[in-house]
Amino acid sequence: MLQTVTTPAEVRAFTAGLSGKRLALVPTMGFLHAGHQALIAEGARRADAVAVSIFVNPTQFGPTEDLARYPKDLDGDLRKCAEAGAVLVYAPQVATVYPPGFQTSVDVERVSKGLDGASRPGHFRGVATVVTKLLALFRPHVALFGEKDYQQLQVIGALARDLELGVEIVGVPTVRDEDGLAMSSRNTYLSPQERAQAPMLSGGLMAAEALVQAGELDVGQIKKIIRHALREGPWKEDFVEVVDAVTLEPLAQLTPGRPARALAAAFLGKTRLIDNVALEP
Ligand code: PAF
Repeated sequence: MLQTVTTPAEVRAFTAGLSGKRLALVPTMGFLHAGHQALIAEGARRADAVAVSIFVNPTQFGPTEDLARYPKDLDGDLRKCAEAGAVLVYAPQVATVYPPGFQTSVDVERVSKGLDGASRPGHFRGVATVVTKLLALFRPHVALFGEKDYQQLQVIGALARDLELGVEIVGVPTVRDEDGLAMSSRNTYLSPQERAQAPMLSGGLMAAEALVQAGELDVGQIKKIIRHALREGPWKEDFVEVVDAVTLEPLAQLTPGRPARALAAAFLGKTRLIDNVALEP
């Protein structure tokens, strides 16, 4: 049976009742899809109980971003959580998470810079702060995040290590639609025509992955093939970058045996899409 709670006191009552059982936490902003369900299912494999938080965190949205129109479907989310094996949903109000007088934030300095951190100032401070609060409240053994938000995953890994939160941060591979488009709650913004063009982004990244598998080490060539995929349709590139898979430092050349990552962000009409792939030179 899925239990839904809205206050930290109720969460603490739940975790106190676990009496030492392993807990997995899946933090989300709701409007769940198969990608979130994969996180819950992986949590169920790694722990005895899975809790999901559903909270559209205002502090990680910039002033011109989509906070006001971010999609919501709590009934659908609860059904998907139960289906995937969660036992608790924490869906707090904004004033519960950020009561009057709230003034603390968590800044993960290096890995938050560049990429989405450069395009979305303050975004990772908002993410790191709310995730730290959730990890401190639930004290889970493991917390799961999608690799689709690859920089976010590295930011959260760093804060969990640096603050010695005693939680294992697990990245789960991106779940894709049949045509390759990475699942995202924001895909709902796409018009039918944009939805048909959207897989060009994953197509470019997968072409880059194949190029590296065929032996290419020059980052210029790798970026070129990604940009080539976005040449048709109303794409506006935000960034195309190839970085070290752990530090996220930009690379000019791949080194055999050193894992790298290709990341891209681009606007399709008004919708900003992001995606990334592992490069294993
Ligand atoms: O990935 C998300 O949905 C959010 O950034 C997270 C991790 C739930 C923090 O609000």
